[in-house]
Amino acid sequence: MQRERDILLTAHELSAKFYHYLLNNTEAGRPAKEYLRSRGLTDKLIEQFMIGYAPNNWDVLFKFLTKREYDPALMERGGLLSPKSDGTGYVDRFRDRVMFPLWNREGKVIAFAGRIMGDGQPKYLNSPETVLFNKSKNLYHFHQARPDIRKTGQLVLFEGYMDVIKAWSAGVKNGVATMGTALTEEHVEIIRRNADEVVICYDGDNAGQAAILKTIPLLEKARVKQAVALLPKGMDPDEYITAKGTDAFVREVISQPVSAMKFRLIYSRKHHTMVEEEGRKNYVMEAVSMIAELESTIEREFYLKELAREFEVSLDTLKQDCHQIRMQLQ
Ligand code: CTP
Ligand code: MN
Ligand code: MN
Ligand code: MN
Ligand code: MN
Repeated sequence: MQRERDILLTAHELSAKFYHYLLNNTEAGRPAKEYLRSRGLTDKLIEQFMIGYAPNNWDVLFKFLTKREYDPALMERGGLLSPKSDGTGYVDRFRDRVMFPLWNREGKVIAFAGRIMGDGQPKYLNSPETVLFNKSKNLYHFHQARPDIRKTGQLVLFEGYMDVIKAWSAGVKNGVATMGTALTEEHVEIIRRNADEVVICYDGDNAGQAAILKTIPLLEKARVKQAVALLPKGMDPDEYITAKGTDAFVREVISQPVSAMKFRLIYSRKHHTMVEEEGRKNYVMEAVSMIAELESTIEREFYLKELAREFEVSLDTLKQDCHQIRMQLQ
């Protein structure tokens, strides 16, 4: 088993170099290079993240690996090759895709994500779960982000590859990504051991915002401090940086996160109609019940005051309601 792992590790390392070479040095790689440029990736970033290209071909990697005496059956178990549909052999798993290597904590390539250029499904084709790769235990780019996470005590959590890469170009070097899956307990454990605080920076679409709501309690449970960086509606960090630049991203987004409670309040507010009295009332009641769950009296008072000011309700009334809810909680 150990031997299989080692063979798969070297196969991944070689494959990453091969894809990277094909992107940079072949005619076939040119459109992929153009694609990456159009998305704002410089040669330096392409180097740093070892981005590559898998050509539109059934067997370039197959030939590359078998020539080096890698057993195709093992390569299939490692997610680099796929069985032919008629069962007579193997073909490359990744074809005509921009290739992002995924690393483990030691910085070894253990899997790939291949992005289609333009529209089409799936947008990202990932390696399957293998002896090397377990999506729920892996955070994209953690091995490189770790020194900065340790130094600053802070970790920035993104959804996707491009977000981490573009943030890196903005000087945010403590960023990692969950790669689209929900944050797992295993992820939280890695985070807890390495960071004091997390800044959640998920996409500004409905899916991203809903994911934040699910992430908050997981980090709370592990007693990891957290804050939420907000993006304009419908934008993800990568799109924000393309539209507004790296400086704006650091200044307006990363440096100004809101508290988890504030995020919950903003989220709930958006889901009530504020023009109608009924909606406003329902929001205030929901807000008070959220605030009631805060352990700290000072924090409760802080948010209740804000609410009282904004909705012209007396602070005393809100405090009374809050108190009652707390009695019921116990
Ligand atoms: N993802 C995936 N498979 C998909 C779609 C998404 O594995 N078919 C993962 C990827 O890690 C992706 C992340 O979920 O980076 C976030 O998804 P999404 O926001 O849809 O993609 P982006 O990262 O914004 O991708 P891009 O900028 O390349 O369009
Ligand atoms: Mn290179
Ligand atoms: Mn998304
Ligand atoms: Mn996105
Ligand atoms: Mn994106």
